[in-house]
Amino acid sequence: MKSPTYLITASLLFTLGLATPTTTLSKTPTRSNDGQQYQLRLLHTSTPSSPSSFRTTSSRIGIASQQQESTKGGALLTSDDATSSFKQIQTTFLIPQAKIPTRGPTANQTTILYASSFHIGIDSFSLLCPSGFLRAGVDIFYDGTLGDPSLQKPQAWYQLYPSDPSVFPNFTVAEGETVRVTVGNTEVKIENFGLNVTCVNGKIPKQVSTVKIDGKGVCGKEAGWIVEDFPLAGLPGIPVALADFGSVRFGGVSVKSGGEEGGIEKNAEGATVSDIWVEAQGGRLTSCEVGMEGGEVRCDRVFE
Ligand SMILES: *[C@@H]1O[C@H](CO)[C@@H](O)[C@H](O)[C@H]1NC(C)=O
Ligand SMILES: *[C@@H]1O[C@H](CO)[C@@H](O)[C@H](O)[C@H]1NC(C)=O
Ligand SMILES: *[C@@H]1O[C@H](CO)[C@@H](O)[C@H](O)[C@H]1NC(C)=O
Repeated sequence: MKSPTYLITASLLFTLGLATPTTTLSKTPTRSNDGQQYQLRLLHTSTPSSPSSFRTTSSRIGIASQQQESTKGGALLTSDDATSSFKQIQTTFLIPQAKIPTRGPTANQTTILYASSFHIGIDSFSLLCPSGFLRAGVDIFYDGTLGDPSLQKPQAWYQLYPSDPSVFPNFTVAEGETVRVTVGNTEVKIENFGLNVTCVNGKIPKQVSTVKIDGKGVCGKEAGWIVEDFPLAGLPGIPVALADFGSVRFGGVSVKSGGEEGGIEKNAEGATVSDIWVEAQGGRLTSCEVGMEGGEVRCDRVFE
């Protein structure tokens, strides 16, 4: 749970204009010089012992209405069948471009870094499974101090908690490319279909990275399609200024449950929808909804 102290600190920093993480960041190992490139990293900090606390309205197709701090938004499907559990979740989405917000308390700041994270997972939303969770996705970055978006590469990562997150081996992805992410309790996989792709069915990905895992400890009670505002590595405790990512559309949404073979496949119909809400950054930061009769979860970056 977030302590009140943390909230006050974060909002005070922003109010007083003292949130200048670059001072701290330049002294941390989070930027590794690699020729002209360097890689920013987010801290994927969620642990089952610190579940996110927020209320949401449950609806089949609807827009969330909650007014509590939450660094997570998106759609959450709960397994209604006590005898089966979610074994695999999949989605396809185009990596949005991270831009500097031009409205709200974090607008146009040339001293700070911006980022957004898009990921899917099993038991990775409410973090109620004590033995672990499973998730994978892509982070995007914008460095306000440089103003050149091409210098920040998105980063594809996965995590089988309690292990630390890892980057997908031998895999690169750029903004504008379409990826398919599959998170299952025996393997996690990401496929890159390249630029300007609207439909991946029948297409051969230009790059694939597969990691075998042993996800037996995952409870399989929840499947989530998530946009998250993580802290930056080197600056724990405060969610990074959320980049203006425009909109992300998790398409081709599917979740499989049941036994080893066969099982039931469904989509996000009936999922609970919620938004990122960070008071220090202006309140509601996303507007998420489930569309296409459950086949799509869409989140827009909003400024109120
Ligand atoms: C940020 O910069 C943009 C482009 O220069 C401008 O249109 C916008 O009004 C600025 N926003 C704020 C809050 O100053
Ligand atoms: C990554 O690439 C290296 C070199 O091509 C190869 O040896 C390694 O097996 C690859 N790893 C994975 C997980 O594909
Ligand atoms: C993708 O679309 C843009 C704009 O239509 C175009 O400039 C670019 O060349 C396309 N890239 C590929 C790889 O097709």
